[in-house]
Amino acid sequence: MIVSPSLLSANFARLGEDVDMLNRSTADWIHCDVMDGVFVPNISFGFPVIKAVSELTSKPLDVHLMIVNPQNYVSQTRDCGAAIMNVHQEACIHLHRTVQAIKTAGMKAAVTINPATPVVLLEDIIEEVDMVLLMSVNPGFGGQSFIENTLKKVRQLRQLIDSSSSKALIEVDGGVNERTGALLAQTGADVLVAGNYVFKSPDPIGAISSLKNL
Ligand code: DX5
Ligand code: ZN
Repeated sequence: MIVSPSLLSANFARLGEDVDMLNRSTADWIHCDVMDGVFVPNISFGFPVIKAVSELTSKPLDVHLMIVNPQNYVSQTRDCGAAIMNVHQEACIHLHRTVQAIKTAGMKAAVTINPATPVVLLEDIIEEVDMVLLMSVNPGFGGQSFIENTLKKVRQLRQLIDSSSSKALIEVDGGVNERTGALLAQTGADVLVAGNYVFKSPDPIGAISSLKNL
């Protein structure tokens, strides 16, 4: 299992210490949630913060843009150190063009879908993307409960990938803990994002290992 702890639940007053904890952990990537207050009803942090994090770690940054017009921020996302750029299908009118631009900029391209967006809408982009991120909560906030219908979407997405030449990874984000993580692992997820489960734990490094070993 690839584990991508979400910095949204970190202590922003001590962000360097939390990144240092991730550096000492078995986390594979660091998930960075950018929110613009338009695409989602919340505002988080932006490129200067991600750039500062990139200078403290060699772990790949998995940047999840919950913003309108993400196609306008491809080079800024790359320049702040992102290895993976996640854009929402719902935010991209020209999704194919945006995916190509992300890859041309040298990043891995990931497409994210909200809980109410069907997997079938990815049929004509699946061979172009490096990863699909299934939201298992409505985006905008950490600490929400896992939407169980996501398990069905993981199965559908696995079928779509296996019936094509796609090698896309399946990432799931929202309400992931040891219980939902185990269900997702059995169902075929490759990457788990976890915010609250890691950062609100008395033993964040242990929480990361527990997901890693699912
Ligand atoms: C929600 C974000 C998530 C969030 C997950 O909009 O995309 O990455 O940090 O937080 P938890 O794991 O607490 O649900
Ligand atoms: Zn996220």
